[in-house]
Amino acid sequence: MAVEVVPLSLPPSADASGFVEFGREVKGVDPGNLDDECFAEIEDLLYKHSLLLFRDCDLSPEQQYALTKRFDPASESFGHGNHSIDQNKKSILHPDLKTIPRVPQVQLIGNGQVHDHQGIPEATLKHPSHTVCHKDVLTDEDAEKGYTRFYRWHIDAALYDLRPSKATSLYALKVPAAPKQIVRYDDGTRDELPVPLGGTAFTSTRHMFTILPPELKSVAVRSRVRYAPHPYVWMAAAKLHSNGVGIVSEGKELSYTQLPPWDESKVKVYPMLWKNPVTDELHFQVHPGCAAELYIEPVPDGVDKHDKLYPDGAHLTDLEEVRDLLYTMQRPGIAPQFVYPHDWAERDLVLFHNRGMLHCIVGTFAPAQVRVFHQCNLAASDDPVGPDADDVRRWA
Ligand SMILES: [Fe+2]
Repeated sequence: MAVEVVPLSLPPSADASGFVEFGREVKGVDPGNLDDECFAEIEDLLYKHSLLLFRDCDLSPEQQYALTKRFDPASESFGHGNHSIDQNKKSILHPDLKTIPRVPQVQLIGNGQVHDHQGIPEATLKHPSHTVCHKDVLTDEDAEKGYTRFYRWHIDAALYDLRPSKATSLYALKVPAAPKQIVRYDDGTRDELPVPLGGTAFTSTRHMFTILPPELKSVAVRSRVRYAPHPYVWMAAAKLHSNGVGIVSEGKELSYTQLPPWDESKVKVYPMLWKNPVTDELHFQVHPGCAAELYIEPVPDGVDKHDKLYPDGAHLTDLEEVRDLLYTMQRPGIAPQFVYPHDWAERDLVLFHNRGMLHCIVGTFAPAQVRVFHQCNLAASDDPVGPDADDVRRWA
């Protein structure tokens, strides 16, 4: 089978210059039955283009798991652990996920009532709403007018013990027909983004790095992020900014002594920039809600320190300072013109490079609007790789 790729069709809101390499529709292949040669081509395309769309697919949960696993054959468990969902009742992910009994690595997500689905006799799905996690929420009147919000920009990753998955697959089984909604940013800007109901929003973190000013590129290439232990438990009571980028600092996080038992060896400290294994480009890859501290290395010898931020390095432990800096670096990347909101059709399969982008749920659903998706991501067998010495010299 020949792999044919075409650019994604972008919405009118998109600035095409931000999507030159981002996203491709793949034609002429059956993603559930790829031979090795074809898969190698798909894998290469995924790292080059971050998001691959396949239309009109038939994909069983077994095939979806097998396909997702091919990006990391040594991976095994769901990205948040196969058992952690039931054991960890405080996880903010818990209400949104149901597992396919035959294939526990594949999750059933969506909205509304589902009957007799892949061994699940009955399930009530609830599309996550910003009203449960944003500090300020839209009024009922605004919602009736068709306004909605980004829910939470994120990476699929437990960020404690388990490593962030390489690829995530999302397969649409049922997509309700509905008018578009408008995401309102409500962050001091008048930014808005028209989105399909229940569209998934994506932004390239390579582009997020590219558009940073030089002084912030310098900080990024020198920084590592320390994530909180059990980060989703830690920040479960905290509320997000109205644009879904990170948390408003109000002291609502648990203290580390209030957390379930944790082990320093399982705490994740990752570079702020992750190196793409195929293109060698750097992606600004930080989960803003789970980040707790920053380690910033000094500007290397021989590089002019003039006009640099934190030229002698720093260890930032003040949560508000950490979050403010990350917000400044990440907010430009989710500007409306740089977001691709995928307009799902039934039997669409999207594969995305989870180490090369942020993504976000959008939309406000009525209970009767039924949306059924299968999602798979697997805790990786290795850690992401940060900038090398040449990258540091180039950008510091
Ligand atoms: Fe996700």
